[in-house]
Amino acid sequence: MRKYFVLFVSVSILLLLGACSNASSASGDGHNMILAHNHPTDHPVHKSLEKFKEEVEERSDGEMTMTLYANGQLGDEREVIELTQTGAVDVTKVSAGALESFRPEYSIFGLPYLFEDTDEFKEKMSDPEITDVIYNSSEDIGFVGLTYFDAGSRSLYTRDRVVEDTEDMSGLKVRVQPSATSVAMIEALGGTPTPMAYGEVYTSLQSGIIDAAENNLTSLVSSKHGEVADHWMYTEHAIVPDMLIMNKQRLDRMTEEQRQIIHDSAEAANAFHEVVWNEATEAAAEEAQNEMGVEFHEVDKSSFIESVQPLHDEMKADETMGPIYDLFKGGDSDEES
Ligand code: GCU
Repeated sequence: MRKYFVLFVSVSILLLLGACSNASSASGDGHNMILAHNHPTDHPVHKSLEKFKEEVEERSDGEMTMTLYANGQLGDEREVIELTQTGAVDVTKVSAGALESFRPEYSIFGLPYLFEDTDEFKEKMSDPEITDVIYNSSEDIGFVGLTYFDAGSRSLYTRDRVVEDTEDMSGLKVRVQPSATSVAMIEALGGTPTPMAYGEVYTSLQSGIIDAAENNLTSLVSSKHGEVADHWMYTEHAIVPDMLIMNKQRLDRMTEEQRQIIHDSAEAANAFHEVVWNEATEAAAEEAQNEMGVEFHEVDKSSFIESVQPLHDEMKADETMGPIYDLFKGGDSDEES
């Protein structure tokens, strides 16, 4: 109850601040920007967002300013996306998985085993002809993408069961992001999907409401899921990036120069993230195994890859998603991925 009261008060204050900043458009509108996200302050994404803020403030000689709200203080991912649509929040970092229910284009990232490996993923994400289609897909619903942050590949982790192939998925209740593609993926793999917000995963694993979750390695340590999960399986089933998105009207109210600063700073934060992300995942794997006692297992991915092929076929045949699939997979859209 208290959480909702605090949230209500915070959002009311933000709306008030938003109304004040709406008034100041003559010389652009770069003051008092609000950036909200759901990771703790020791998470690599938070460090990259601090870098983004620093770059914006430095490049504008302090004319543009930004305040960061971490830890889901302003709401879970769905809530902050909605706040970014209305302009109560200016910028947010959310998973592409959470954006999928706002714009279908983002569901491409949830499609399991789309990319061969992270190199292929990064190559596609460095091509503006591909990313612009994704980033601009939400213009008409109030926000645009600025850049992405690598969030590695997602794997399965369980409270107490070792999963070797899809047969072991039977009856396994797996938390997924609130995304239709993730639900379909766990169903195709033979498990039982349970969509819920990220902030609820720790207690749900602890109490046994769910048997498993799937995410990148930092979740074990940064959100302490390794305390309540005994096994990590390298299924590496999806590469779902974190996205930096911004309220479209706020961006439009800026001067050309201010907009350029936003875009250049986002690019600088993306490059910075590459370094901190790699360091953080290596450290997380070590800490989870050596200090939290999580057992790591390699799996034979072939039964996983085979089970999700119908999802690829469905996406290729979809009117909106077929062209997006082709954009990412180029000429080899009919080949096995
Ligand atoms: C990743 C991502 C978060 C997201 C989470 C999830 O950790 O960085 O932004 O909330 O996945 O599974 O919901």
